[in-house]
Amino acid sequence: MSRRTQILSVDPEKPAGQAVARAAALLRGGGLVAFPTETVYGLGAKALDPAAVAGIFAAKGRPATNPLIVHTASPEQALALARHFPPTAEQLATRFWPGPLTLVLPRRSVVPSVVTAGGDTVALRVPAHPVALALLRAVDQPLAAPSANRSQRLSPTTAEHVRQDLDGLIDLILDAGPTSGGLESTVLDLTVLPPRILRPGLVSPAEIEAVIGPVLRPDPSPLPGDKPLRSPGLLGRHYAPRAVLECVSGDSSARVRELAAAGARVGWLTWEVSSPLPENVLAVTMPRQARDYAARLYAMLHHLDAAGVERIVVSLPPETEEWLAVRDRLQRASAS
Ligand code: TXA
Ligand code: MG
Repeated sequence: MSRRTQILSVDPEKPAGQAVARAAALLRGGGLVAFPTETVYGLGAKALDPAAVAGIFAAKGRPATNPLIVHTASPEQALALARHFPPTAEQLATRFWPGPLTLVLPRRSVVPSVVTAGGDTVALRVPAHPVALALLRAVDQPLAAPSANRSQRLSPTTAEHVRQDLDGLIDLILDAGPTSGGLESTVLDLTVLPPRILRPGLVSPAEIEAVIGPVLRPDPSPLPGDKPLRSPGLLGRHYAPRAVLECVSGDSSARVRELAAAGARVGWLTWEVSSPLPENVLAVTMPRQARDYAARLYAMLHHLDAAGVERIVVSLPPETEEWLAVRDRLQRASAS
């Protein structure tokens, strides 16, 4: 399966125009289009067309067992895809949509089972990015859209990240610059009581609880603490075949120096660099606010990836809830 992948720029301030019209035409024809959302770039296809959705799984190399999020232009269109929903769904939709919250609800049969990986529930979200919304309005139907990366790889926060992973596999990339959120949406299962957060994201548990009361956190498998964990799967193979990401609590500079002394090219995500570093260390100073850190995390990992480091050491963020989503992603990146 080889296609020519077009890249078209879109002004996020004035999204309606030829690029979005072209994207909508391709999607209506069953094609695959990557587009920006406020979290990460998504890879869209007509959600109600099983053949189009199958194209997403093929392009990403995604296992058929992993269901997709369906995006719509309005809360009404989203909730219309649920067989039924509790009042909490409407309350959350009113508060957070458009925005980075995904609700899991019972699936209407109009949603093909390929979207839901054969399951009886569907994940729904109204994205807040003006280009995503313009595209959804132009196509005038729901779009299934996972993050626009090959399966197992880092999510893309720029059109260039998408191109590196999916060039030749999809029809078009809409380029509206870097995404602002930088981490994926929060996924909340509303088919259980109390509701359960399946994936922490840009909307915090506290923000959700302020609207609907107590929700369950994802299973708290703790981060690896001092013990380095290996992650050959994190980075693109042809860039960094041996890349390993470690999370280190406490003084991560000691670990960085140890790896560097052993001859490795080391990337370091840290809060501050106090003394001069060996030449083979590439340090990135990260923001101290969780939201700002989240916005930069994938971009910086992509950056280290492109720079060809073999090892990445990350200073572990605090164990507070505002860091939940960042810690979750670091945990996934460092788990083998
Ligand atoms: O921010 C985001 O959510 C981005 C943008 C593009 O919208 N999308 C995204 O999609 O991250 P993806 O496919 O990379 O992640 C979707 C997550 C997966 O963990 C998937 O298992 C889960 O949502 N999911 C999808 N449908 C589900 C369902 N019916 N029940 C439970 N989990 C579901
Ligand atoms: Mg993904």
